Amino acid sequence: MSDQVKITPLNYDADRPAAKNPLKIMDLSLRDGHQSLFATRGRTEDMIPVAEMLDEIGFWAIETWGGATFDTMHRFLNEDPWERLRTLKRYIKKTPFSMLLRAQNLVGYRNYADDLAYAFVDRAAENGMDIFRTFDALNDYRNFETVVKQIKKCGKHFQGCICYTLTEPRLGGEVYNLEYYVDRAKVLEDMGADSVCVKDMAGLLAPYDAYPLIKALKKAVKIPIHLHCHFTSGMSPMTHLKAVEAGVDIIDTCMTPYAYRTAHAAVEPMVMSLLGTNRDTGFDIRKLAAINEVLEKEVLPKYKHLLDDSKISIIDINVLLHQTPGGMLSNLVNQLRDMDALDKIGDVYTELPKVRKDLGQIPLVTPTSQIVGVQTVNNVLHDTPDERYKMITGQVKDLCYGLYGKTAVPINPEVQKKALAGYPRGEEPITCRPAEVLEPELENAKKEIGDLAVDMDDLILYAQFPVTGKKFLEWKYGKSEPPASVKAITLDEVKAKDEIIRKAKAGELVEAKADAPLKSQNVRSFNVFVDNEYFNVDVDPTGEMQAVPLPQAAASTAAPVAAPAAAPAAAAAPAAAEPAAAAPADGTLLLAPMPGMIVSYEKKEGDAVKKGETLVVLEAMKMENALAAPCDGTVQGIKFASGDSVAKGAVLCVIS
Ligand code: CO
Repeated sequence: MSDQVKITPLNYDADRPAAKNPLKIMDLSLRDGHQSLFATRGRTEDMIPVAEMLDEIGFWAIETWGGATFDTMHRFLNEDPWERLRTLKRYIKKTPFSMLLRAQNLVGYRNYADDLAYAFVDRAAENGMDIFRTFDALNDYRNFETVVKQIKKCGKHFQGCICYTLTEPRLGGEVYNLEYYVDRAKVLEDMGADSVCVKDMAGLLAPYDAYPLIKALKKAVKIPIHLHCHFTSGMSPMTHLKAVEAGVDIIDTCMTPYAYRTAHAAVEPMVMSLLGTNRDTGFDIRKLAAINEVLEKEVLPKYKHLLDDSKISIIDINVLLHQTPGGMLSNLVNQLRDMDALDKIGDVYTELPKVRKDLGQIPLVTPTSQIVGVQTVNNVLHDTPDERYKMITGQVKDLCYGLYGKTAVPINPEVQKKALAGYPRGEEPITCRPAEVLEPELENAKKEIGDLAVDMDDLILYAQFPVTGKKFLEWKYGKSEPPASVKAITLDEVKAKDEIIRKAKAGELVEAKADAPLKSQNVRSFNVFVDNEYFNVDVDPTGEMQAVPLPQAAASTAAPVAAPAAAPAAAAAPAAAEPAAAAPADGTLLLAPMPGMIVSYEKKEGDAVKKGETLVVLEAMKMENALAAPCDGTVQGIKFASGDSVAKGAVLCVIS
């Protein structure tokens, strides 16, 4: 024996036996991790520094794509989602890639036609995807048929998900009981699933429900059982352990900086908990620590401003009370904040289970969580004592029609009838596989977008996201300049900002600059509080001001919703010099009832419109809202175009 005895801090290398049945782990940091904690804003350039290191750990797979990444990347990051897949594949060569596929919803928010579904899976496989974790928000596996055919054709791994949801505080009750989950798993195995995933998106699975559930699933099917359990409620580490005892094959974790809160349990405690047992992962915890070091120093400083730091607690008790997944909660809060209605959050919690029940007790997962969430907010904000469901989103109408699939229990017939009144596809709901009523859509999409979509990947992106996808393709091919908001921030910028905050806290932000410009008459004063320090800051707008040539008379006429907050005085704006002849002398304003993005105007300038006809389709929180004409008249004063963002109260047009 050499005198150079190799001592490691844990001395586990030599003594650590290889487990007979090691627990397999999938890392979610690069997809669900940043989707849960940082609004899916993770950039590819920030994944590269740890990509090769992650490949060395021995993960069963690394989740790199799908879910909200496809949407967020092209919309907010000016990144081509397909390119991420190809780029990461160059660094991660050994570990398979996994993606979250919303079955017939692909990576969007509605059921797409079969031709688009085939093309999407085909291109994802071609670009490097290995495992297709597939789920349907209603657990209606008819929605799997098309994508599964293509996954199998491409020779890839089909993982079938069962969305875990409850109507009672614990597993059981009329709808979502043990028999329900066992039945779903058997159906998946019969469909040819290579593994089954219990997808607990809200962290509802209690440890002592996980044990019998996993036991029953292991007994019912031969394929591996994978558990995806969000931390949100705080139960998931305990749930993991009971699931491991029950024989679960694979679990999901995140690297520490992407772990906990609404994301997933961290990998390191699990590795240590199982060390030396018959389920030992075999992972080297020092390699994991080295990854965290890089993430903490080089990556996470750029994202910490996105972390919801409104609360100290990392556990959300509300999820145990209201069963709402983390992403949905933060969406609801953001939506209410945008509308200055945060005080209504209590009403939203009360309304939510009612809306869910009306809509057939559907599981709350994308997109049904958004559908239920946005409809709930609409009800709270717009319903009156004598009228419920006053503003029904397009997606709720689609759900009532059967376009998402079969709900666990029937939809409230009254709500269904109201939603389907005048619904263009028909007032009678369908019962067949939803995609059967959808016309092929790729050819149409190609006609619309023309040469701006250079290849199939561009076309698939456009077909799922017509408005933002087109905008992205214009940036991609240099047809328009991407706005500053989509540009990456650098570590230097973060450091500069942190320094200003440090100085402000230390009271050092007092030096006056010799070349400071004089204050203009437009200067506005703000009170700024940093912790308990108070600063008075004068802000003087530079550059051109956006003018809204609002006719004076129009402001005083009846508007369908509350008048907008005082707009900047028109007199100060350059555009006010233009003759006001084109603007109507008076009329009824159609105001944006919520902040959002214009999808389309259904009428043109000068068109006649009848009260109740759809004038504008406004997208808010990814849901489309049809805004109806408040009265008969002629459409005038259209100020926006498709793709424009509008504030709450913006004048969308005038009816005179
Ligand atoms: Co998840």
